[in-house]
Order: sequence, then structure tokens, then C-alpha cells
Amino acid sequence: MLFPTVLATIAVFLASISEALSFHPPYPQESVDLDTPNRFLGNAGPFNEAIGYGIPADTPEECKIDQAHLFMREGARFPQKGQVEDYAELLETLKNSSIAVPGGPLAFATDYELLDFNATKYGRHISFDGIYSGSNEIHKLGAILRARYNHLVDESSTTPIFAAAAQKVYDTAQIFGDSFFFGGRAGDYKIFVFDEEESETANTLTGAYSCPLYDDDTNGDLVESSKLDFDQWEADRFNRLSPGFNFTDDDVYTMFSYCAFELNAYGSSKFCDALSRDYLIGHSYQLDLNYFYTYGPGYNFSTVGGGLYVNATATMLKQGPEVAPPLTFSFTHETILLNYITALGLLGDQTTLDVDKVDFNRYFHASQAIPMGGRVVTERLSCTNHTSGKDESYVRILLNNKVTPLPGCNSGPGFSCPLDDYLDYVSNKTVRFADACHLNSSVPQDLSFYWDWETAKYSTNYTFEY
Ligand SMILES: *[C@@H]1O[C@H](CO)[C@@H](O)[C@H](O)[C@H]1NC(C)=O
Ligand SMILES: *[C@@H]1O[C@H](CO)[C@@H](O)[C@H](O)[C@H]1NC(C)=O
Ligand SMILES: *[C@@H]1O[C@H](CO)[C@@H](O)[C@H](O)[C@H]1NC(C)=O
Ligand SMILES: *[C@@H]1O[C@H](CO)[C@@H](O)[C@H](O)[C@H]1NC(C)=O
Ligand SMILES: *[C@@H]1O[C@H](CO)[C@@H](O)[C@H](O)[C@H]1NC(C)=O
Ligand SMILES: *[C@@H]1O[C@H](CO)[C@@H](O)[C@H](O)[C@H]1NC(C)=O
Ligand SMILES: *[C@@H]1O[C@H](CO)[C@@H](O)[C@H](O)[C@H]1NC(C)=O
Ligand SMILES: *[C@@H]1O[C@H](CO)[C@@H](O)[C@H](O)[C@H]1NC(C)=O
Ligand SMILES: *[C@@H]1O[C@H](CO)[C@@H](O)[C@H](O)[C@H]1NC(C)=O
Repeated sequence: MLFPTVLATIAVFLASISEALSFHPPYPQESVDLDTPNRFLGNAGPFNEAIGYGIPADTPEECKIDQAHLFMREGARFPQKGQVEDYAELLETLKNSSIAVPGGPLAFATDYELLDFNATKYGRHISFDGIYSGSNEIHKLGAILRARYNHLVDESSTTPIFAAAAQKVYDTAQIFGDSFFFGGRAGDYKIFVFDEEESETANTLTGAYSCPLYDDDTNGDLVESSKLDFDQWEADRFNRLSPGFNFTDDDVYTMFSYCAFELNAYGSSKFCDALSRDYLIGHSYQLDLNYFYTYGPGYNFSTVGGGLYVNATATMLKQGPEVAPPLTFSFTHETILLNYITALGLLGDQTTLDVDKVDFNRYFHASQAIPMGGRVVTERLSCTNHTSGKDESYVRILLNNKVTPLPGCNSGPGFSCPLDDYLDYVSNKTVRFADACHLNSSVPQDLSFYWDWETAKYSTNYTFEY
């Protein structure tokens, strides 16, 4: 038998050979960022992280986080009753005619079963089945943010969570709270609910709906005039490949929705596989156009709607954790989240999008900005200046988990923006909501719930009909 040291030498030698002969490079060379249908489902599909800029989300070494504010839409959910009825009818039509097209892209439908979406029971509630479920995604976020912000939690007092008054939004807030506060065993929380009826007020989580001058149909004619019709284009493709179905553009739209909601509620969908990538790219552009011109950079009131929250958050950052809450969690709809992202300036300067051709160079992709579970976290960092030995404050934005530098303001650690410059940046971009919306002077002119929630007696009612 050989001496152990000889064996060890041979082992080391073999290991170094296998390293030298590796077929795989140490860093991958292929890009897979966009190689999934999920990236083309606009606002309707499961959560996707933003592609980002490669900036590590770790807190920069010389810094600590001293404030964080989450602003988020609802997590992945079940479809509405009417949508489920459309899926059922389409599936039956496909089954009835599938014999004509064995081997076609929709042949799978012959023995495809309608999911138990049970709209009666679940409606548009947060989904809890499948890997992309809202429940899974929101729990995960709660746990990750708890680990990140544990040092900011005061377990001896109640932390407020703010939610717009819709069941799916409330449920998102509750799942998040249960996860973040470990079912109440690691701190306590209470959800405050803000009416989303269209009564004028600035003290709301649905600013666009409470601003009398906000008209999301302002650019309706422009968007309607688009010559793009990828639904019809895909219907023609199916009619070529699967003659006998006689597909219409409406059928294709139903398939798109079916694809998105099967992913949200179940985790996979044969309909996603049946739709061509070219269609998904084109259709997602049409969805983007719609959002861009209603709640995004293509409508000038978007920055008014979102500015309400950008300004309120900036006010908290300016006051610092000694005066303002160190942590806030706010839950609302995708429209309002898009207003917010627009007002932050994260979507660049582009205020028009070609309605007749796909603009591949655009910043805005709904699937990256406002997928189900879409979120923006604003962090205040306190960083040590090694020359002066003093602490200085900076601001960083995480858009869908990725550090997203502010255009023109990213000279700080980890490409953060120095707090004073951030406050300038925000005040340069925001007009007062009450003024721009011509709010009646008898209604609340500013957002105050982040500061007065303990005394203002906001509703905690969560029985919604919708
Ligand atoms: C499918 O075929 C069955 C049996 O012929 C018929 O009763 C039903 O109405 C058809 N459904 C659709 C949606 O065409
Ligand atoms: C859905 O669930 C409700 C409540 O449990 C039940 O009454 C109803 O029959 C179910 N519907 C279907 C289509 O399964
Ligand atoms: C397809 O539908 C159109 C419009 O509904 C109809 O005119 C046409 O006859 C149908 N074609 C076939 C092959 O069923
Ligand atoms: C938005 O644009 C319209 C039309 O140009 C103008 O009348 C309105 O004052 C603008 N609103 C804001 C808030 O900039
Ligand atoms: C750090 O402190 C030095 C000395 O006071 C100052 O000149 C410098 O501007 C500070 N750096 C930053 C990034 O604020
Ligand atoms: C804010 O606007 C002023 C005046 O136009 C400009 O000088 C300054 O650079 C702007 N600040 C930021 C951070 O954009
Ligand atoms: C910003 O928010 C603060 C606090 O709610 C408010 O007092 C101030 O009027 C707001 N400013 C603008 C420009 O909206
Ligand atoms: C403002 O609100 C008051 C009280 O509700 C009402 O009497 C008044 O007519 C309103 N003014 C306008 C311009 O709508
Ligand atoms: C809660 O909201 C429901 C639906 O809006 C309403 O019917 C009910 O009266 C409210 N309950 C309380 C205690 O406010």
C-alpha cells in the first residue's frame, strides 16, 4: 500500500489536471435574462427581478441602512371570474376541433384540463399554488427584508402597514406582515386601509384616482390609432399551422391571459409554450404602450400622481429615523406603482413611444417595472467618510430587487445619491399634488398617514366587496 502522503500528492495532482481540462469557463458566457415567456407578460405575469445594472445589492462596506421604505403592488393572483369563463370556453372549442390538427401547436388541448381556478372561491385573490404564487413570492420578500432590516425593527411597538382598500392589496400586506413579523412573534404590526374611491384627497394610496384632473384616457386616441395588431398576427399563424380552429384575435388574447394566469396560479402553462416568442414580444410592446401613455412617462400627470409618494418618502428621508418612521410598508396597485417609478425618473427622459413600430431601445418594459409583486425600496444609508471620520447620508433605490441608480445622481457609495442632492433631485421633479390636481381646499392637501397614523384613527376594516 502507498503511504498516505503519496496518495494525497496524487489526489492533488489529479485535481489540478481536471481543473486545467475543464470544459466550462469560470464565469458563464451566455445571457439568459430575456429567454423566458415571463419577461413578456407585461403587468399580468409572475414577479421578475429587474435586469438591473450589476450593482451589488449588499450594503456598501462603509455604510449601514438607517431607513427603508417599501412601495409595492399586489402579488400574483388568481384570475377574475369572467376570465376563467373565457378560458373554459376557449378550451372547449379547442377540444371540439382539435382532431383536425394533430401535431399542431395546440394539439395538447385535446386532453388539457381546466385548472381549478374556482373563481367563486378565490376571485382575484392572491394565489397560493405553484412556484410563482403570490403567497410564495410575498412570504419570501417578507423574510428577506426582515433579515436586511432587522436592526430597524422595534419589537416593543406596533409597526404600521398601509394598504389601498382592495382585498388583493390587503392580502398582500397581510402575507408580507406575517412573514416579516414572524406571525407576530417578532414584533407586531397593524394594517391601515385607505379608501380608493374617487373622492378628492392627497392622503391616500391611490393618488391618481383621487386627483380630479388625472384622466388616464387623455392619450386614448393615440394608443387606439396604433396599427400594431399582434393578436391578429398570431391568429393568422395559428390558422396556418392548425387549420380548422379558425382563430380570432380575441382567442389569442384569451390565450395570452390564460398563459399569464396559469403561471401565477399554477406555475406552468402549455399556452405559454404554444404562443410564439415573436407574438409575445409584439404583444408585450402593445401592453407597454398602454401603460406608458396612461400611468407612465407618456402622460404628464403620472409624475403628479407618483410625486405625491416620492415627496412624502423624501420628507421622511430628510427627517431621518429620529423623527420619521425608520421603516414603512405601503401596498397599492400597479398603476400607482408605475406613477411612482415614473416620478422617480427611473424610466429616463423618453416621453413618447412609437405606436406603430416596436421600439426596442425603450427604457420602459411593464414586465420589468410592474410585474405582479412589483416593488420599489428606498433606502437611506449612513456611510463613514474616511477622510473626515464623519457619517454622511445617501439614498439608494432598489427597483424589483436591483439597485437602480438615479439618472445624474449616483456619486455615493454603491452608486447611491448623496441625501442633499437627492432632496434637490426630488424637489426639481415634483409639483405639489394638491396644486396640480386643483384639490378643493377643504380636503387633505398633503399625505400625512406616515406621520399621524397613531392618532388619526384610519380604518383597519378589511371586508371588501369587489
Ligand atoms: C363542443 O362540442 C359539444 C358536443 O358537440 C357541444 O355541445 C358544445 O357546444 C361545443 N362547445 C363549443 C364551445 O363549441
Ligand atoms: C367553487 O367553490 C365554491 C365554494 O367552495 C363552491 O360552492 C363552488 O361550487 C365551486 N365552483 C366550482 C366551479 O368548482
Ligand atoms: C372563420 O370565421 C370567419 C368569421 O367568423 C368565417 O367567415 C369563416 O367562414 C370561418 N372559416 C372557417 C374555415 O370556418
Ligand atoms: C399636461 O399637459 C397638458 C397639455 O399640454 C397641459 O394642459 C397640462 O397643464 C399639463 N399638466 C401638467 C401637470 O403638467
Ligand atoms: C469627506 O470629507 C472630506 C473632508 O471633510 C471632504 O472634503 C469630502 O468632500 C467628503 N467626501 C464626501 C464624499 O462627502
Ligand atoms: C435642480 O435644478 C437646479 C436648477 O435648475 C439645478 O441647478 C440642479 O443641478 C438640479 N439638481 C439636481 C440634483 O438635479
Ligand atoms: C411634501 O410632503 C410634505 C409632507 O407631507 C408636505 O408638507 C409638502 O407640502 C410636500 N411638498 C410637495 C411639493 O408636495
Ligand atoms: C369644496 O368643498 C366644499 C365642502 O365640501 C364645498 O362646499 C365646495 O363647493 C367645494 N368647492 C369646489 C370648488 O368644489
Ligand atoms: C367594512 O367595509 C364593508 C364594505 O365596505 C362595510 O360594509 C362595513 O360596514 C365596514 N365595517 C366597518 C366596521 O367599518
